[in-house]
Amino acid sequence: MKETQIIAFANHKGGVGKTTTTASVGSILAAKGYKVLLIDLDAQANLSASLLKNQEIDKTIYDALINTSVGLPIYPIRENLDLTPATLQLAMVDLEMASVIAREKILSELLDKVKANYDFILMDCPPSLALLTLNAVTAANGVIIPIVAEVLPFNGLIMIENFINMIHKKLNPEAHVTGILITRWEKTNLSKQIEEGMREKLGDEVFQTKIRKNVSIAEAPLEAQDIVSYAPKSNGAQDYLAFVNELLEKLHINK
Ligand SMILES: Nc1ncnc2c1ncn2[C@@H]1O[C@H](COP(=O)(O)OP(=O)(O)OP(=O)(O)O)[C@@H](O)[C@H]1O
Ligand SMILES: [Mg+2]
Repeated sequence: MKETQIIAFANHKGGVGKTTTTASVGSILAAKGYKVLLIDLDAQANLSASLLKNQEIDKTIYDALINTSVGLPIYPIRENLDLTPATLQLAMVDLEMASVIAREKILSELLDKVKANYDFILMDCPPSLALLTLNAVTAANGVIIPIVAEVLPFNGLIMIENFINMIHKKLNPEAHVTGILITRWEKTNLSKQIEEGMREKLGDEVFQTKIRKNVSIAEAPLEAQDIVSYAPKSNGAQDYLAFVNELLEKLHINK
C-alpha cells in the first residue's frame, strides 16, 4: 500500500462501539496481512485493557504527548498488530497541555515519524470532542463515526460533523467522514425505523454493513481476544468481517 490510512473512530456519545470497532477492525486487518498500529486515546484505557495480557507497560501515549522527544511508545500485540496504550493518567492531558502552542497537532507530528511502518493507524477516541479527539481528527485522513440506532441520532451527528468540518477547514484538509457505522443493532421496529431514516437522509455516508448486537462482542475483550478468534461463527465476527471488506472497498484498497 502506498499511503498510510490514518482513521479516527470518534463520537462524543459514550458506549456506541468506538473501542470495540477499533479493536475488531484492527485485528481483522492485521490477520489479512496489513501492518496496523492501534492508538488508545481514552483515559478509560478500555482498548489497552482488551489487548494487553501481562505485558509490562513502561510508557504510554500520555508520555509522548507531554514530552514529544520521547516518541510514540509502541508495543507488539500479535503479528502485524501494534498498540500505543493509555492509562488513567491520560485524564490529566487536557489540563497539562492547556498552554502548549499548537497542541492540536502534537499527535499528527508523532505519527509522521512512524507512519511509514504501517498500512493502517487506527485511533480510539474518548467520548468527547476535547483535545484528544481534536488531535486524532487533525492527524487523520478519515473519521468513522459509530452510532447506536436507539434514539434519533441526528443532533449528535450534526455536532460531530461540524467539528470535523471545522478541522478540515482550519487544520487538516484531509479530515473528512469516511462513514457512519450502525452498531449494537437490534431487530426492533424502532431500530429499523431509525436505520431507514438515516439511510434516507444520509445516503452513502452510512455503511451498508451494520453490526448487530451480539454477546460474543462483549465477551471477547474480557479474554483479551478479538471477536474473530474468540467466536468465528458469531454474528459479531461475521458483521465485522463484512464491515472491513466494505471499508477496504470504500477506500479503494485491494491487496
Ligand atoms: N455489537 C455489540 N453487541 C453487544 N455488545 C456490544 C456491541 N458493541 C459494543 N458492545 C458493548 O457495549 C459496550 C460499549 O462499547 P464500546 O466500549 O466499544 O463503546 P465506546 O463508544 O468505546 O464507549 P466509550 O464512549 O465509553 O469509550 C461495551 O461493553 C461493549 O462490549
Ligand atoms: Mg471506548
